[in-house]
Amino acid sequence: MLPKFSSRAFLAPMAGVSDPALRLQCKEMGAGLVVTEFTNIHSIIAQENKLKENMQTIREFIEYSEQERPLSVQLFGSDLIALEKAAKIVEPYFDMIDYNMGCPAPHITQQMAGGALLQEVNLTQQIFNTLVNAVKKPVTLKIRSGVTNTNKFLFRDIAEIAEDEGIQMITLHPRTVSQGYSGNADWAMIKELKEISNLPIVGNGDIITPEDAKAMIDETGCDYVMIGRGAMGNPFLFEQINDYLKTNSYREYSFRDRLDSFFDYLHLTNQYKIKFANIKSQAIRFTKGMHCGSKLRSKITLSKNIEDLKKIMKDAYTK
Ligand SMILES: Cc1cc2nc3c(=O)[nH]c(=O)nc-3n(C[C@H](O)[C@H](O)[C@H](O)COP(=O)(O)O)c2cc1C
Repeated sequence: MLPKFSSRAFLAPMAGVSDPALRLQCKEMGAGLVVTEFTNIHSIIAQENKLKENMQTIREFIEYSEQERPLSVQLFGSDLIALEKAAKIVEPYFDMIDYNMGCPAPHITQQMAGGALLQEVNLTQQIFNTLVNAVKKPVTLKIRSGVTNTNKFLFRDIAEIAEDEGIQMITLHPRTVSQGYSGNADWAMIKELKEISNLPIVGNGDIITPEDAKAMIDETGCDYVMIGRGAMGNPFLFEQINDYLKTNSYREYSFRDRLDSFFDYLHLTNQYKIKFANIKSQAIRFTKGMHCGSKLRSKITLSKNIEDLKKIMKDAYTK
């Protein structure tokens, strides 16, 4: 059974972005579900072997905190034996297991993983079957609509297989793999998926404002919405969406609030092994749209360590 979600707005898995500090911030601001960055099943197995030697667990590799719950771990990779093994390794620590069938990056699709799987109906069926039988925790799925424009409705077949095999929820980002991030997400496909499937459906793609979130729910009937780029450096969005859905109004946040929020983020990073390069990129996202933002971002890019970065961000308050 799926856990109970406190909000209809979820934070999307984003490699290099949805680290445990940002996830916790989004959770505290009202995200109903947060998902780890996608994780290679082979890396999980390799890391687990190494960690066991030091009496450590996979938590050292996929970091998280208890406050993030309910927490979903996202896996990618299509080797069935490795998939079963990796799913069993992560199961005790997470509330849900999400399977990635959407990633368009060539280094992922070339290893028959991510979005490339959408056109591999038999393998997909075996993957779902393996995962659902390997673990007791709910297994969910995140897909794009198809691989290219000529097969952009592959999601219809995949959704049917998913339901038959015991997948418990589907997130659809209605762009094809070859589209990357170009054009618009075709929300009509989310509506169609909601109509043809009995599973809870999470709509995803191009939600930047609370108004967008409401529009997606109203237009498609989806059960939940998932937000990626719109939540980058902007954890306030979850509170705003929750309020907007309830009361039709929400609090606006200033750039000062965004800077404060970056320092909260920075404080949270102390507990985790997040790379400095990733923290720098997060700083850049928190300055999106700010006055003198581009100058600030050039300085951030040149910063060499956390102390440099803190000073640059502190100076931004006076700009
Ligand atoms: C930097 C970045 C990293 C991403 N990493 C993942 C990932 O690890 N797993 C995944 O399923 N999707 C990943 N995505 C896709 C998002 O989860 C989401 O489906 C997509 O960005 C569309 O939603 P949006 O318009 O709200 O950003 C990533 C997207 C971005 C921008």
